[in-house]
Amino acid sequence: MPGVMKFMQEIHTEIVHIDPFHPEMAIIERAAEMIRAGDVVVFPTETVYGLGADAMQLRALERIFAAKGRPFSDPLIVHIAEEQSLERLTTSISEQARQLAEIFWPGPLTMIFPRSPLVPLLVTAGLETVAVRMPRHPVALALIRAAGTPIAAPSANRFMHISPTTAQHACADLHGRVPLILDGGPSEVGVESTVLDMCAPVPTILRPGGVSIEALRRILPDVQLAAPKHAAHAESVTDDAAHYTSPGQMLTHYAPAIPLLLFDGSVMAMRTAMLAEAKLRGEQGERVGVLVADEDVPAFQESGAVIHSLGNAADPQRVASSLFAGLRFLENADVQVILCRNFDTSGLGLAIRDRLLKAAGGRVYECA
Ligand code: TXA
Ligand code: MG
Repeated sequence: MPGVMKFMQEIHTEIVHIDPFHPEMAIIERAAEMIRAGDVVVFPTETVYGLGADAMQLRALERIFAAKGRPFSDPLIVHIAEEQSLERLTTSISEQARQLAEIFWPGPLTMIFPRSPLVPLLVTAGLETVAVRMPRHPVALALIRAAGTPIAAPSANRFMHISPTTAQHACADLHGRVPLILDGGPSEVGVESTVLDMCAPVPTILRPGGVSIEALRRILPDVQLAAPKHAAHAESVTDDAAHYTSPGQMLTHYAPAIPLLLFDGSVMAMRTAMLAEAKLRGEQGERVGVLVADEDVPAFQESGAVIHSLGNAADPQRVASSLFAGLRFLENADVQVILCRNFDTSGLGLAIRDRLLKAAGGRVYECA
């Protein structure tokens, strides 16, 4: 198949509003029919918007990778609506996994299982494991049920860009590349699902997300966090897909289009350092954006920077749900650099910090 998917033909993208709580069945049926026919559909989930296709059809799966511009080396999450659907996707379900499913599904938890031979290797990037999640968004659940097949879906953004938490974000990235976007309003959680490897010797969080490590620990006391790939030698790591070892753990997975500098330390020290940096850059004629919390806003009022608040720092749920929209806002605010404060790592804070670190390419400015 020479040259396949090198150039994508522009297709018409339709955005259809759908009730996020009581999805209109006519719209669901239409989208489900497209999934069955091997097409892709963008749909809301409680974490971020997904770019879905029938997980069992190779042609459909290829369309996901083509629309996103994603390399085949990055595996997809399979979304189900009934726990029973798990039986066809894996060869074994541990007691612990069943218990986790019982408690956290439907919801923002993805578990890694041994792959059943029925799951195409295109879904798993050739791995012998498969990632499965049962989302809790009524539109996602209705779509999977109506399609009558598990739906493979990565986040509905262009490869290496910020995940979309609204239909408009997805449209900005995938306009002309997907036929249908279901608009169910903003995603409630705002960061992607927690990816938990249940095939590792010790249950391991590969990506912190919507279910906190504290919540998992109540069921899995020995659950551990995979070592971040971006802690050391950030400067020497390249963005080349060939350089990463663990799928989806790339340093700049969530990169905004402009550089982001992440500040860390006590709130006062962060603020002071960010203000000094904003002033210096402003004097050099640079346009600066600052990504802060509500309580930081007054300190930046005179700085000349474009200020965007993610909400009260003590409310990680709010910060998580506004994070990706905030990054996109500053990306489009005609600034040349984003200065961002860090947040506490408890609860959803771990996922927030992970996404900020990735957006910053792993570099952190420690403020004393
Ligand atoms: O919240 C979410 O998880 C969203 C919504 C749409 O469900 N989906 C999402 O998909 O974030 P994606 O493709 O952007 O991220 C999937 C992550 C990647 O980091 C990928 O490497 C990892 O899951 N993953 C998938 N299959 C895996 C496997 N078999 N082993 C290890 N990691 C896997
Ligand atoms: Mg993604």
